Amino acid sequence: MSVEGPGSPSGPVSTLVTGVAELVTNDPERGQGPLGIVEDAALVVESGRVAWVGPAYQAPAADQRTHLGGRAVVPGFVDSHAHLVFAGDRAAEFEARMSGQPYDGGGIASTVASTRAATDQQLRAGLARLVAEMRRQGTTTVEVKSGYGLTVHDEVRSLRLAAEVTPETTYLGAHVVPREYVGRTDDYVALVTGEMLAACAPHARWVDVFCEPGAASAFDADAARAVLEAGARAGLGLRVHANQLGPGPGVRLAVELGAASADHCTHLCDADVDALAGGSTVATLLPSIEFSTRSPYPDAQRLLSAGITVALATDCNPGSGYSSSMPFCLALAVREMGMTTAQALWSATMGGARALRRDDIGHLAVGARADLAVLDAPSYRHLAYRPGVPLASTLEL
Ligand code: NIG
Ligand code: FE
Repeated sequence: MSVEGPGSPSGPVSTLVTGVAELVTNDPERGQGPLGIVEDAALVVESGRVAWVGPAYQAPAADQRTHLGGRAVVPGFVDSHAHLVFAGDRAAEFEARMSGQPYDGGGIASTVASTRAATDQQLRAGLARLVAEMRRQGTTTVEVKSGYGLTVHDEVRSLRLAAEVTPETTYLGAHVVPREYVGRTDDYVALVTGEMLAACAPHARWVDVFCEPGAASAFDADAARAVLEAGARAGLGLRVHANQLGPGPGVRLAVELGAASADHCTHLCDADVDALAGGSTVATLLPSIEFSTRSPYPDAQRLLSAGITVALATDCNPGSGYSSSMPFCLALAVREMGMTTAQALWSATMGGARALRRDDIGHLAVGARADLAVLDAPSYRHLAYRPGVPLASTLEL
């Protein structure tokens, strides 16, 4: 990659990006197919936005130029589900799972204990490390949840730290019932929907709940409804951890309440698929979790053929799946969930943007944020064709 030319002495500096063998715009009006592909492309970036996009031979002049030497450019990945504010390590739990132990969410308590014991500076450093790791792999937007504090103080602290790195912050006080409330779930839900919500809402855009009636420490449909309705009254958008460990009410509840996204969707019955098809809730699939918990993968084609919007995200967390890599998730979605590479790339970019109800990211039409991922490859197809190879990185302009 090379950068040349002086900046403009006054006014915003525009940058012409050339040497793009293949540009994925996700704008079907601008290029071929659903990904809106332009070959031998160029784009102009000004004030952090896409100012022009098209074939290189039509490119206008700009103040400076960046030449990518025949690489592919795709919209930066939108990772709409991650848990990055935590301390501690659960590698031993992962190893036990690989030798047959099931995942039931019980290990979350150990991360809660480590997180409560950590200083702000330790949590901030861990968060910064993971965000940098994501950026190095092409992610330009990440949603970050609380949920390893589970006291008023520790949930507010987690959200304040998350807000230092992203506007997409999610209050997950209803991650699990913490140890000190075991046997008193109603009291904990009252805290989550009362004092804790009031303290957290100013620092959050979203509220989320782990709706999994089969899991000892998670929440049933009534508790999840209470959490979501209280969050909505406090002005938060809704997201749900749904149908991860078994069939359940989470997906249908998410659709009924107009949640932006139902996440996991590992165990779906026909009524869940019908509900998603009839609503506006995105189905967010998290294949790194199936990988790291040795669970069956959901069938993405079943959702796509029903016309449901599908997003892909990492769910990066220290327990059920500790990958920060959107390219890894994309490759898994192609290999294990029946997606084409084009569908998986769309879901990892536009799908994530839809799951966050954002129209300024996930695509590269004129006016969009100039969030670019450059691939050290001539085509987006290499994202699945070359799994585990660090092809993607963000392009800072
Ligand atoms: O998305 N389902 C609950 N929460 C996380 C797991 C958190 C953990 O195991 O620490 C998830 O899989
Ligand atoms: Fe999660």
